Amino acid sequence: MSNSDEFTQVEFAAKFISSQSTIKPLVAIVLGSGLGGFADELTDVVRISYGEIPHFVRSTAVGHAGQLVLGNIGAWPVVIMQGRTHLYEGYPVQSVVFPLRVFARMGVRAAILTNAAGGINLQYGQGRLVLIKDHINFQGQNPLVGTEDLRFGPRFIDMTEAYSKRYRQLALEAGKRLGLELAEGVYLALLGPSYETPAEISFFRTIGADLVGMSTVPEVIAARQMGINVLAISCVTNMAAGTTDAPIQHEEVLEIGRKISGQFTALLRDVVPLIAQDAAKG
Ligand code: HPA
Repeated sequence: MSNSDEFTQVEFAAKFISSQSTIKPLVAIVLGSGLGGFADELTDVVRISYGEIPHFVRSTAVGHAGQLVLGNIGAWPVVIMQGRTHLYEGYPVQSVVFPLRVFARMGVRAAILTNAAGGINLQYGQGRLVLIKDHINFQGQNPLVGTEDLRFGPRFIDMTEAYSKRYRQLALEAGKRLGLELAEGVYLALLGPSYETPAEISFFRTIGADLVGMSTVPEVIAARQMGINVLAISCVTNMAAGTTDAPIQHEEVLEIGRKISGQFTALLRDVVPLIAQDAAKG
């Protein structure tokens, strides 16, 4: 896909989605593995399967519904991705970030990205919610590779504060109100889909990673290029390889995601309006 084509495709998909609902979303929320429940909180809902949207890829990962949900949280219009695509499914990185490009075109100013992650930091435990404060990209890919298209934004983008400090502060305050102990950590992204070896995890701990996962980083890079501010939240579904004797099982990752979904939903219910309000100002 050349970039000039990509822009046309983005516009086409944005027009299609806008034709299905009067909602003009300010905030996009991507719900990761087992974390799809928040979509039930919306009112004035319109659901669109990824398969119906021109040029959207279908999510194939287990635990991902693969649909867009447009609606309101209180007075605030949002769009939710119930499930995302991952590089490990074999999609090119441009396809993985395509939805974010479409949302930017539709006027979205803020993104809340969630994921399931392995806990590298030994102070974490299963079920801990962690705000991502920075990342290490070990996926060997970047969505900005290719012909430069300034309609999406510049090529050499600053990543000093990729994860908005202001949004993290809002989330920490929301966590306090709700009695949730939120941590802040560095997320290391890998291609997957195999989980890591204990030797890899001990290396990642040495270089400053607190969490490991297989998503989110491409979306954050594309969002930042387009001037979208990001809050990213990991749910530690398992401690990373080698920190316990237990093997890591995908079923368990999904199960913990479901168990924690009440807390997760409460946090989003509190923080989404605050972020939407901020986005409306900008
Ligand atoms: N490693 C990578 N990705 C993950 C993990 C993990 O241990 N748990 C959930 N997603």
